[in-house]
Amino acid sequence: MKTMELVFLLIFFPVTLSGKHSLKFFATMSSGVKNFPDFVVAALVDEVPTGYCDSISNTVEGRQDWSQKMYKDDPQHLEWCTQQCLLDQYKYKDHIDILKQQLNQTEGVYIFQRMHGCEWDDETREVNGFGQFGYDGEDFIAFDLRTLTWIALKPQAVITKHKWDRDRALNEWWNYLLTQHSPEFLKKYLDYGKSSLLRTELPSVFLLQKTPSSPVSCHATGFHPYRAMMFWRKDGEDLYEDVEHGEILPNHDGSFQMSVDLNLSSVTPEDWRRYECVFHLSGAKNDIVTKLDKKVIRTNWEFPAGPVIGGVVGLLLLLAVCITGVFIWRRRDNGFRPANSSDSSSSDPSSVRDAALN
Ligand SMILES: *[C@@H]1O[C@H](CO)[C@@H](O)[C@H](O)[C@H]1NC(C)=O
Ligand SMILES: *[C@@H]1O[C@H](CO)[C@@H](O)[C@H](O)[C@H]1NC(C)=O
Repeated sequence: MKTMELVFLLIFFPVTLSGKHSLKFFATMSSGVKNFPDFVVAALVDEVPTGYCDSISNTVEGRQDWSQKMYKDDPQHLEWCTQQCLLDQYKYKDHIDILKQQLNQTEGVYIFQRMHGCEWDDETREVNGFGQFGYDGEDFIAFDLRTLTWIALKPQAVITKHKWDRDRALNEWWNYLLTQHSPEFLKKYLDYGKSSLLRTELPSVFLLQKTPSSPVSCHATGFHPYRAMMFWRKDGEDLYEDVEHGEILPNHDGSFQMSVDLNLSSVTPEDWRRYECVFHLSGAKNDIVTKLDKKVIRTNWEFPAGPVIGGVVGLLLLLAVCITGVFIWRRRDNGFRPANSSDSSSSDPSSVRDAALN
């Protein structure tokens, strides 16, 4: 797994104790990305996509039955969200222009992203807010709630940091937004969506294989909440080698999916029975254990059901990505690279952070 992906996972899917809930807003401002609106914002409650707005529709849509009902029951709240969606489209325009100039990126594709929100523990009542920005798929600048100042995560962000640090009113607003406003929203959403958000649902688990020499993918879909683990075992012992963990992705119905691939190229057919895939859901009594067995693997080449399954899985993945609009942050391989990617000092964010703080 690439470092960026790991960072992404740590940021977006933190391992949390039960009792903790989160509200996250992802805004993506871009230009020149084919078939993608210039502005997209998605709201996630406990990682479930709940609200969405973009610069084409300019209206906020509920993405779950309960959030649609909430917007209907509370038009004032819907109006407020719609206003924010409109305002946000223009708020950062100047700033992006300055950035593009700084990075000599006067034409072509750029992606500017903001992620903010809070975690709230319904047992300890503790609140944790977070707000940060990314540029062209990399962390750029983050808000520090202890000091109410900004942390430059890249050398190019230092100018921005100084500029934003001088704006006391802005930083007080961020403080209010992350420590009061966001937890209030989160509690409201949890109350409205509790029958859906607080449910425990086990997934269907399939073994999938693309070609006879491909890794075998253990795929779980339909689980809730997102706090789940999946791994391969051999003779009852957890396996770390030849295993590739996929991300937890949201399904359109508010449940989640994930995959773990096992590379079997050096395993003899007789040894296959020693392997099994284990799915563990936080809060569930029993794990789902799937024995590695050629007969139950769904493939694209042997059984008529194969392509259908593959197609469904592919579609689910695509839906998950489209619905949230979230996963672009790590799409660096697809061309969202910074103009100045040779900057070696950017490889150690902590040193940049220290430099920025001094
Ligand atoms: C941008 O281009 C100018 C002129 O071509 C150059 O002097 C400057 O160093 C470049 N800046 C960056 C960040 O690449
Ligand atoms: C599986 O492992 C073999 C060597 O053990 C390696 O050559 C091959 O590239 C791996 N396949 C994948 C898809 O990672």
